Order: sequence, then C-alpha cells, then structure tokens
Amino acid sequence: MTDQFKDVESKDAEFVLHPASSITALLENGPQMVVSAKGSTITESNGTDLLDAVGGLWCVNAGYGRTELAQVMKESAEQLAYYHTFSNASNPWQVELAEKLVKLAPKGLDKVFFGSGGSDANDTLVKIAWHYHALKGHTSKTKVIARQQAYHGTSISTASLTGLGGFHREFPLPLDFVLRVECPHFYTRGKDGETEQAFCDRLIGEIADLIEKEGADNIAAFFAEPIHAAGGIIEPPVDYYPKLKALLKQHDILLVADEVVCGYGRLGTWFGSEQLGFEPDMMSTAKGLTSGYFPMSAAFISNKIWEVLKEGSAKLGAFSHGYTYSGHPVGAAVALANIHLIENEGLVNQAKENGAYLHARLREELNDHPFVGEIRGRGLLAGVQLVKDKANRVLPDPAEKWPAKICAAMKKAGVIVRPLPSVGTLAISPPLVITRDEIDHLVRVLVGSINSELK
Ligand SMILES: Cc1ncc(COP(=O)(O)O)c(C=O)c1O
Repeated sequence: MTDQFKDVESKDAEFVLHPASSITALLENGPQMVVSAKGSTITESNGTDLLDAVGGLWCVNAGYGRTELAQVMKESAEQLAYYHTFSNASNPWQVELAEKLVKLAPKGLDKVFFGSGGSDANDTLVKIAWHYHALKGHTSKTKVIARQQAYHGTSISTASLTGLGGFHREFPLPLDFVLRVECPHFYTRGKDGETEQAFCDRLIGEIADLIEKEGADNIAAFFAEPIHAAGGIIEPPVDYYPKLKALLKQHDILLVADEVVCGYGRLGTWFGSEQLGFEPDMMSTAKGLTSGYFPMSAAFISNKIWEVLKEGSAKLGAFSHGYTYSGHPVGAAVALANIHLIENEGLVNQAKENGAYLHARLREELNDHPFVGEIRGRGLLAGVQLVKDKANRVLPDPAEKWPAKICAAMKKAGVIVRPLPSVGTLAISPPLVITRDEIDHLVRVLVGSINSELK
C-alpha cells in the first residue's frame, strides 16, 4: 500500500456502508481500494494490476481510461453541468441521445425515458405498465411475473422482482405484486429423461397455468433478462421467448426485456433480444449505455404504449414520474460519445468475434473437466458452471464456497472474475476491448485456479 492511500483505507469502514458487501469481511480485511484503470486492467492502491474480466459490474464496455469520454464529460459539464427535464424542460444532448438509441433499439421501441441506473429503469417500467393498463380502464392489471434466479435490481420493487433469496432475507420482500415462475435453465431444472423441447413446453405451460389461475385481468407485465446475468448466465431453450411472447400477447401482458447487462454490445449484437428471438414491448438499459462513466439508464417504450400515455395526459396533466437526474445533460453527452465510440471502433462485432474465441478457449480447456458441468453464454458474457458430480449434475454446496475460493486464487494470479455462489458459477463479462492475449491469460489463470482449488 502506498502511503498516499493508507489513511483513506483505514477510514473506509468508519464512514462507508458498502453496497452488497459483508461488513464483517470489511472489518477483517479492509476495502479493496482501486485507484486507477486503463483498458481492461484496474490498479489497486498497493500498485497491483488486475485484469478485470468482469468489466466493473458488467458495465465498462468501452474499457477504462478513455480520454475521449473524459473530455466530453469535462466540456459538457462546463457548458451545462445540470438542468432538470421536468415540466418539459430539455437539453440538446438528451434529444440527440434518444434519437440515436431509438435507431439502434429493437423494432417498435420508439420513446426513451432517462434515469440514473438499472433499478430505477425497471422501477419506471413497472409503473408505466401499471399506468398503461389503468389508463385503458384495466386497473386490476397490477401483478408482475418474474423468474427464479432473475436479477432486476435492489430498490423495493426491483428487489421484489429479483428472484435471488439473498436479496429478500430479513427484508419484508418480495412485495406481493410479484408472481414467480421457474428459471428456464435446462441443465439444472430439466427433469430426468426430459428433452430440452419438452422442458421448454413445460415451462411455458406452467406460465399459462399461472395466468389462468391468477387471471390475465390481474397481470400487467413479465420481466425477463434475455440471458440471466447475476443469476448464473442462463439462457432459455430456443423456443422459449417466441412462445412466451405469443402467450403474453394473447393476454395483453407486456413483455419487458431487462437489457441492463445484455445491452450495448455485450452479446455481440446491440441488444440481447435481437439474438434471442423476441420483440419486447418495453426495455430497460443502463450500465453499457455510458460504459459506467456516468450513472445513467434508458427505459424504452413503444409508440402504442406512448399513445395511451398521451391520451392519459390530456385527462390527468403531467405523467407524474421522474427523477432529478432524468435526462442529465452530462450523462447524455457521455452516453452519446460512448455509443459513437462503440460504433466507430466496431466493438459490437469485436464482442461477437472475441466472444466466440473466449467460448472456444473455455470449451477446449474445460469441457472435459470433472468439476465443470456447463459453459454458457454468448459474446463476451460467459458462465462456467461448477459441479461436484458431473454425471448427475450435482452442484457444489454453497457452504463450501467453491466459486469464492477460485476467484480468490484467480485474484492472487492477477485476474478478476465474479463468483455467483447461489448457482456455483463463475461469471465473465470483460470490457469489450479485451484482447485475445488477455483472453488467453484469463483462461490460463481460470483453469489453473480451478485445478489448484478443487481436488
Ligand atoms: C439485469 C440487471 N438489471 C438491473 C440491474 C440493476 O442495475 P443498478 O445496479 O444500476 O440499479 C442489474 C445490476 O447488475 C442487472 O444486472
């Protein structure tokens, strides 16, 4: 540790309550103090360089240390550091950004609402779903379907949508507007002798039964990450989304794509739903929108939904929802520059090609490994499923902390990947600028650490 940071490190626990962190561990080990970063590498206060194969929190798509983004931030802050967008106030950057995003977005997503993060984008879309149905006279359409192993955020409504028990423990959550359905993961949820197609049909059948039982008149929306991220890098069977969309359409239930992780190139296309074969009615994005350089989210709705809101406005006046930082001029300028950078440098295609390389390398090295059951994901989003008993698909006991042990060994060797303890999985989502040499290094360290930690 350099003396420069000694003081702040010792004061961290005294003053900071960290998100999603163990206070006990902080008191024992102190914080991980990160002081600079460039490309795909972060540097800690003691001078250690680490290949960040998580991209911060799945968000630094353009890579760290992009001076062109810092420059835009400086210039736009000097010109207009802030003004709100309530009461139809606007700024040129949010308009230009919205126009650009609508051009890139999946077909039928025509209007953009800006916020500050993924949770507020999803929260906004829950409220818009409620508002939309209420304005059409369907005031009882308030329940929202979400899946086991989903992650949609940690605000009160989005933690409720999140299907990971740890986010509910010792909170009065989930709220009862959420209806839970099965996680569409064939590897862990398929029954003995069941084909993937039969599994898919069973899950769609269960959703149809739930709609029947609860009554379509009481259900507003269905939230889905195209590929579950924090829940285990889980992709449903191929027919799942087309069948789901058809079922929901029949019952006037809106399908919301949570593209907070999958959006802006991570899977090798601008958005995940393009690849996974469905057209969402609404879509939430954040993270890669600014590559993490500014806290910003964009929630998309269709013109069909907007028309209903427009009629409501004639009756009610204001659409009574929004945030102090909605349409922030500096955030919008940075997002716009980031999107141009991703476009000009061909990073979406790079994610596709280097993602294919990453998956091929992982498969070459780990397909036959006795403690690896499945390698999942697309583009630069990958999950390595650890198993205790490969033949019978038995996952490791969470109490044995296999993912955390491997991640600790990897960190010692200079690489960060993310442990997903509830599913015994290691998650990889590097900056889209990661090089093939860095991918080789990551895979080498990953394999070495699995071998050293699991015996
Ligand atoms: C799929 C998904 N949705 C929503 C969120 C919440 O975003 P935020 O932490 O910016 O509120 C996350 C965060 O990781 C996410 O992975």
